[in-house]
Amino acid sequence: MTTNTSHAGSTQSASGAGTPLLSVQHAKIGYVVNRETHVAVGDVSFEVRQGEKIMLLGPSGCGKSTLLKAVAGFLGLFDGQIRLAGRETLKPGPDRAVVFQEFDQLFPWKTVRDNIVHPQRVIGRARSEAERRSDEYLELMKLTQAADRYPHQLSGGMKQRVAIARALALDPMILLMDEPFGALDAQTRSRLQRELIDVAARTNVTLLFVTHSIQEAVYVGDRVVVLGNAPSTVQEVVDVSALDDPSTLEFTSTQEHLRSLLAIDDDELGNLAFE
Ligand SMILES: Nc1ncnc2c1ncn2[C@@H]1O[C@H](COP(=O)(O)OP(=O)(O)OP(=O)(O)O)[C@@H](O)[C@H]1O
Ligand SMILES: [Mg+2]
Repeated sequence: MTTNTSHAGSTQSASGAGTPLLSVQHAKIGYVVNRETHVAVGDVSFEVRQGEKIMLLGPSGCGKSTLLKAVAGFLGLFDGQIRLAGRETLKPGPDRAVVFQEFDQLFPWKTVRDNIVHPQRVIGRARSEAERRSDEYLELMKLTQAADRYPHQLSGGMKQRVAIARALALDPMILLMDEPFGALDAQTRSRLQRELIDVAARTNVTLLFVTHSIQEAVYVGDRVVVLGNAPSTVQEVVDVSALDDPSTLEFTSTQEHLRSLLAIDDDELGNLAFE
């Protein structure tokens, strides 16, 4: 498999050594409803380096999805700046592929293979190249046997694997994931977490991953950006890159630390996944 070398993410450090791939500076983001302004993300700054797995962790409603949508270019900023490889991310583009939590993000009338081929055709790839890449990522995500099935013939976990394969086949500079495993049962979730870690290592893709789960943040991530209640700010950025064994004392004590950071407001405790 040539994934490692062919991946755009690994060739896009044209921004120069030491320059972050993604830079979020003093982002303030919100919504205007009935002429009233609601600020979800108050003032958030963080950076993501090429090949890193960055987890956004915070209480429900603190603006994690809002922040991810702004990075994707779906939402504008009230203030601040978001730059990808040195360029402002004003519009959505295939350099930022998104995987959502919902199982219905696939085209229901297309087979698994065509779900992966189609977006590549939309960005102008030749059919033969799109099909070659589709088969490559089907294999990477262990979906080869399901290539000719339709989404309604797949389990939830398989649908999420197709969504990940489809996103990776675009060669994004960064893969944005909004609680992609949040609706899966615990066993499938931990299997997909392991698979994602493996695929990220093989493709060197950069990940920005939203989660509610402290365990997921520590297990999957390299660094965890902990957000407080809305209008959110960064509470702390915790390095978890050395923690990949949940049975170790370090893993448990980092989970404890994140738990204490998130317990900013007792009312929010009920909303947090403390597994
Ligand atoms: N389209 C919208 N219009 C108006 N307000 C919105 C919109 N989307 C989100 N909000 C509000 O912005 C705030 C942040 O929402 P967001 O979905 O980003 O939170 P979150 O951290 O992703 O929460 P969760 O963990 O529950 O997914 C919430 O108060 C929410 O009600
Ligand atoms: Mg959300």
